[in-house]
Amino acid sequence: MTTSPPEAELRQRLDRTVEMLEGHGQAHLLARSGELEPEALESLLDQIDGIDIPSSVRLMNEARSGGCATPPEDSIRPAKVVPHEPADAESMRARGQQLVDEGRVAAFTVAGGQGTRLGWNGPKGTYPASPITGKPLFRLFAEQLLAHARRSGRSIPWYIMTSPINDADTRAFFQDNNWFGLDRTDVFLFPQGVLPSYDDDGRFLLSEPGKIAVNPDGHGGALRALRGSGAIEDMLARGIEHISYFQVDNPTVQVIDPLFLGLHASSEESSGEISSKMVPKAAPDEKVGVFCEVDGRTCVIEYSDLPEELATAREPDGSLRFLAGSIAIHALSVDFIARLTSEDSELALPLHQARKKVPYVETSDGGRIEPTSPNATKLELFIFDAVPLASRSLVWETDRVEEFAPIKNAEGSDSAVTSRDLQFERAARWLEANGHDMPRDADGTPLALVEITSETALDRRDLAGADLPDAFKPGEQYIL
Ligand code: UD1
Repeated sequence: MTTSPPEAELRQRLDRTVEMLEGHGQAHLLARSGELEPEALESLLDQIDGIDIPSSVRLMNEARSGGCATPPEDSIRPAKVVPHEPADAESMRARGQQLVDEGRVAAFTVAGGQGTRLGWNGPKGTYPASPITGKPLFRLFAEQLLAHARRSGRSIPWYIMTSPINDADTRAFFQDNNWFGLDRTDVFLFPQGVLPSYDDDGRFLLSEPGKIAVNPDGHGGALRALRGSGAIEDMLARGIEHISYFQVDNPTVQVIDPLFLGLHASSEESSGEISSKMVPKAAPDEKVGVFCEVDGRTCVIEYSDLPEELATAREPDGSLRFLAGSIAIHALSVDFIARLTSEDSELALPLHQARKKVPYVETSDGGRIEPTSPNATKLELFIFDAVPLASRSLVWETDRVEEFAPIKNAEGSDSAVTSRDLQFERAARWLEANGHDMPRDADGTPLALVEITSETALDRRDLAGADLPDAFKPGEQYIL
């Protein structure tokens, strides 16, 4: 049971906080504090302390006075890309596998997003994503980790970034599912930070009389959160050297990809700090960031920031000039993250601003305002802004069908339906590559619906010699 602090103590704390807020132009946040019950006031003061107002105001001012500008158009070139089948693939795969076998690799999922577009009521990782069995995303990732661990004889630690909004629900989901058979001590959940949203006058907003409107600080907030949560120390203590980074929304991601890890850690194109996978963009307006080169450094320009003229530019052969779409899969060295977060981590990555509708309490009269158009700005950090901070950053082309079937929207592109179709297509290709007949319709769509579990195969090569049905029949479902 919690007890409220004595009134005088609370009063003093309030006075100190008002004074601090006045110094930063945010005193309106406590203008109606007299109407709050002591518990509610205490909780608001706790939130104000947690937010770190001076630092949030500094970030806001920095963003308002320019933020991160897109580089001049004529300085942007397409990034150099390592081809899908690199010449030294076998030795690189062996090198990456060795890192896994030696326990030097961890998996890292960013799962702090709100999933608003998907309309799913719960953490996105709980969404049923496999095409027949409907296994949730978190289970699919866990099953891959278990399959790798069986092979290498070593468990692979899994770090998962949640947000204050979904942390409790995510933990409960893992608990309810008995950690999906993983060793509890190998799963490290931690919430990312938040930043206050602000109006056009640079004032933070109250979403409720006793609560400041905040938003998660973007997946770039992972750097700070990895440090602040103790995850970096935990990795160093376990001897982890590289992390395999992926978003929670992609059921076909290879959570551990030995070839990619080998290229990242050992190829000439990489400094071993941060590497990325790309797929050729499907269309000029596909909503993926694009790998570019600016001033000799590799970087990602987000789809909303890439000038249209560049997004639509074509090579003489008709292909897109800026083709390298980011599928938000990276490998990062723990040393690199430790370096970026060692001093003033907040300034390591640029701030991105996005307009949004934030319902708020008008502090002058206590009225609640439901805006009909965007009235506030949120600030976010993006992990891919770490790419140009590496001395040499590798970008490797991969195959969309093999590893990019994200579930982001309730319908249309990048929805559960497009993801399911890609998962069936991938399974069909794996079977065909191993000499099995797959019935297909005139458009080439597979007619037998197959789901392959990670226990059976982590990639197509694992199906060689597997005990499989003789024939796959149109209209039938198979779980292998
Ligand atoms: C993202 C990338 C885009 C990339 C595409 C590939 C950004 C800004 N853009 O687009 O370049 O091509 O994926 O699929 O990321 N997340 C957090 N905390 C946050 C915000 C997001 O953990 O504060 C996580 C989400 O849970 C999700 C991922 O980051 O796993 C992506 O976030 P989202 O905002 O959905 O990015 P997209 O627009 O899909």
